[in-house]
Amino acid sequence: MTDSRSALDSFNAFDVEDSIIGEALDPYPELAAARRRGSVQRVDGGLGETLAGSAGTYMVYGHDQAVSALRSADTFSSASYLDVLGDVMGRVVLAMDGKEHRRHRALIAQAFRPRALQRWERELIAPLIDELIDRFVAEGRAELVRQFTVPFPIAVIARMLGLPRRDTGMFLRRSLELISVSVNWERGVEASQALRAYLKPFIEARRREPRDDLISELVIAEEEAERLSDEEILPFLLLLLPAGAETTMRALGNLLVALLRHPSQLNAVRDDRQLLPQAIEEALRWEPPLLLLARRATRDTQLGGVSIAAGSNLVISLAAANRDDTRWGHPDRYDLHREAQSHVAFGSGPHLCLGLHLARLEMRLAVERLLDRLPDLRVDPDAEPAQIRGEIFRSPPSLPVIFGTG
Ligand code: HEM
Repeated sequence: MTDSRSALDSFNAFDVEDSIIGEALDPYPELAAARRRGSVQRVDGGLGETLAGSAGTYMVYGHDQAVSALRSADTFSSASYLDVLGDVMGRVVLAMDGKEHRRHRALIAQAFRPRALQRWERELIAPLIDELIDRFVAEGRAELVRQFTVPFPIAVIARMLGLPRRDTGMFLRRSLELISVSVNWERGVEASQALRAYLKPFIEARRREPRDDLISELVIAEEEAERLSDEEILPFLLLLLPAGAETTMRALGNLLVALLRHPSQLNAVRDDRQLLPQAIEEALRWEPPLLLLARRATRDTQLGGVSIAAGSNLVISLAAANRDDTRWGHPDRYDLHREAQSHVAFGSGPHLCLGLHLARLEMRLAVERLLDRLPDLRVDPDAEPAQIRGEIFRSPPSLPVIFGTG
């Protein structure tokens, strides 16, 4: 048994459902009704109350209004993320504004250049997918969330960081504990401290002797004679788990549900792999893994014809925006053949997802290899049908499938 195999086995004991937030099966009819009442609305009670202490809370449901708010970063600040993430992760790029954000992003973006992606694809992502599939390919059945979509993106990050294989199990477990911090706060904060303590020596070691991994790239990245300090690199490494792994695991689950529920579209992709990129974009539009983004108004302003006072909170519904019927016909349908139009699953403006190329690559390679190696992949007819759930994040808690064993 190899190191990585035993590490992945120990992870299987973890209760994945623990990290699925919310039971909502289908929030979309309510979101569509809300959007028809107004693309931007003040809310009182519910979310409005949770975000108390501000001048008011506004929901953004329309696509164009969401894009406009996300692009107006001077008017709509990201700093309110610190209220939620600060204790667990520290000062993360997601919560920075203006000059500080531009400097920090320019430095970390160097590690995500296309050249790095090519190397990760060949040396790291493709072999990892095969290792995961090897573990269940002979069985003729699998539960793809537990056995594939959850461990895959976390293990990609572990390997990108250059962590030793023997630590993969611990890293998976701590990562899931951190990701599910809103379900169990104490456990999440403890995981964050443990991960900081675990990762810090790697940063120090790579400063002394850079290697061929992401931590080394971050250590040597330079912009206008400035470099990232340890206290900047650590929060970024922690952020990679919710921002990079959780979103990708959920998005991949949603993509697989979409294809398995629509066998004719699955067959189309099986026969013509060129269709995969549009199958991926349509899944991200149809069921974005992350539903809500937050901003705070820095000045009195207007959005979608609604006046918003300085200090107000904005909650942007990516889910509602991605099914805006003024932009997409029959928005509730998953249709990979529809005309391509940009969606907001990756956000927009200066904070546009930094890992979007990596996420797309992981999803494409995963589906390609699953289709190559699992002949006649289909939903397990004896199991409960997979359902996508959640209000803040959405994905299937389980995905039982069967396939031929060749
Ligand atoms: C399908 C998968 C993914 C989705 C849907 C997604 C979604 C998003 C969204 C919506 C934002 C913007 C947040 C905001 O404006 O408030 C964001 C930012 C970010 N994402 Fe992703 N993401 C995904 C995968 C990844 C991956 C794989 C990585 C890296 C390994 C990553 C790293 C980041 C980072 C660092 C930011 C912050 C950028 C900034 O603040 O300038 N994401 N992502």
